[in-house]
Amino acid sequence: MKILLIGSGGREHALAWKMAQSDLVSELLAAPGNVGIDREPKCKSTRVSSDDISGLLELALSEKVDLTIVGPEAPLVAGLADVFVANGLKVFGPSSRAAILEGSKVFAKDLMKKHGIPSADFESFDDYDKAVGFVKAARFPVVVKADGLAAGKGVFVCNLLEQALDALDQIMKQKIFGVAGARVIVEDFLEGEEASFIAFTDGVSVIPLASSQDHKAVFDNDIGPNTGGMGAYSPAPVVTKEAHARIMNEIMLPTVKAMESEGRPYTGFLYAGLMIKDDKPKALEFNVRLGDPEAQPLLVRMKTDPIPLIIAALEGRLGTQSIKWDDGTAVCVVMASAGYPGPYSRGMVISGIDNAEKIEGVKVFIAGAADSPHGVVTSGGRVLGVTSLARNTPEAIIKAYDAVAQINWNGAHFRKDIGRKALFRG
Ligand code: AMP
Ligand code: GLY
Repeated sequence: MKILLIGSGGREHALAWKMAQSDLVSELLAAPGNVGIDREPKCKSTRVSSDDISGLLELALSEKVDLTIVGPEAPLVAGLADVFVANGLKVFGPSSRAAILEGSKVFAKDLMKKHGIPSADFESFDDYDKAVGFVKAARFPVVVKADGLAAGKGVFVCNLLEQALDALDQIMKQKIFGVAGARVIVEDFLEGEEASFIAFTDGVSVIPLASSQDHKAVFDNDIGPNTGGMGAYSPAPVVTKEAHARIMNEIMLPTVKAMESEGRPYTGFLYAGLMIKDDKPKALEFNVRLGDPEAQPLLVRMKTDPIPLIIAALEGRLGTQSIKWDDGTAVCVVMASAGYPGPYSRGMVISGIDNAEKIEGVKVFIAGAADSPHGVVTSGGRVLGVTSLARNTPEAIIKAYDAVAQINWNGAHFRKDIGRKALFRG
């Protein structure tokens, strides 16, 4: 089978690495891919960008690909799956009508309210003055969110009125996210511990991946601005057996059912960002894709070949499938450019990746790095994800950081506390 994989991050490198191990896969083209993907057997990067839908269609048709897997949300929200299906191509990912679950937070919140899916109480506004009036009367903290896609930067947790007013000003007046900020959500602040819960779905059955937890803030102890994710581990002990059952019965299955009943049947990866307190989950948001970096520890732990699962999902027979997981823990530490998520410089020569991978159970997934005459250099904010697999959480943490210690470039930044929350619970 010839696969087209869309995207260029650590998540996509992990997907390429995993899919290349499948006997069912003869070749994998990545659009645009990255230098890490290029070094995997059977895999080749192309120059086609992940938001060039007509270029991607041309590539898929001319290369006669059998199956397309989409990493990031933007092409799905923009209708990639619709265009591919209309051209007779197999693609794993929701239609644009279903991808609105991530594309509009107002849609997601209205859906949850209508169908009784647990989430924070909220109001939505398209009028700046009304939003200001609401926050002036609100009990703090509150969370202000831009409606549309904002690359993970559209959420403001506000402890004080001034912060909420500033968030509304930035989103609705200065329009820092453009049309994505034409509407806002103002919602209650939820206490608890976060987890990521991701599943395969064919629109009826939901087959969950193992639990995982992200580390969104740029600095240790969850301090500093939010990033795309500075590290992740799986499993996440906060997802107890009871929490797991509630997540499936109160959030995942009802959401898939709700989408069906709204005439927006959902196929693909479904990711719920959760806040869990006393084993009771509430949904913070939905994503229509795998998480990044969560995909890296998840795919390292996954023993099952994902290709038959994806084909079963496309054929509506996911209910007969199951996934086997390594019993241990996987930890991924993201190494980023100094300054990320703000401005950062590129082109720093990276050393030590090969030595890091000599450590048994360690795999380095590339995100923002590129080939140059001087060797592999940094080319993005999140540069790579050092991912370890070990029998238990303490060993996996030690192994990941032993590997991180091998890797260097001028200005490399990483959190030193990835996995610590699991240690305290485990
Ligand atoms: P989201 O993109 O909606 O998941 O929000 C990004 C981050 O903001 C989440 O991972 C949480 O850390 C935080 N957050 C969002 N909504 C809430 C909420 N209602 N209560 C507390 N924290 C929140
Ligand atoms: N790591 C969070 C996300 O992928 O949205």
